[in-house]
Amino acid sequence: MSNQWKIICKVADIPVLGARVVARDGKPDVAIFRNGEDKVFALVDRCPHKGGPLSQGIVYGERVACPMHNWNIELGSGCATAPDEGCAQKFSVKVEAGDVYLDALELASLATEVVTA
Ligand code: FES
Repeated sequence: MSNQWKIICKVADIPVLGARVVARDGKPDVAIFRNGEDKVFALVDRCPHKGGPLSQGIVYGERVACPMHNWNIELGSGCATAPDEGCAQKFSVKVEAGDVYLDALELASLATEVVTA
């Protein structure tokens, strides 16, 4: 299926080594992260451990440390690093001319349940 890219913000709007939250109606928020090399990643803003807000974690390399219990989540996959297990839903991201896009279909269809661990 082809992507339906929707402009979200500029890369410059995301704090370096931090995140910006994209709210969704009645669905868990999506966090868009920016690392030290201006790479951008998007995950549901729920840690696979107990649902901590990953957007409030510290980004290092291509990982984010959850602010709750310090699990390390791979930004590219959404999965926790060993020995922890579990994955946060990842979202496709496109960056073009400094603008960040997410896929409207994914925003509507992925990680729509509010799961409490
Ligand atoms: S909720 Fe993220 S490490 Fe526990």
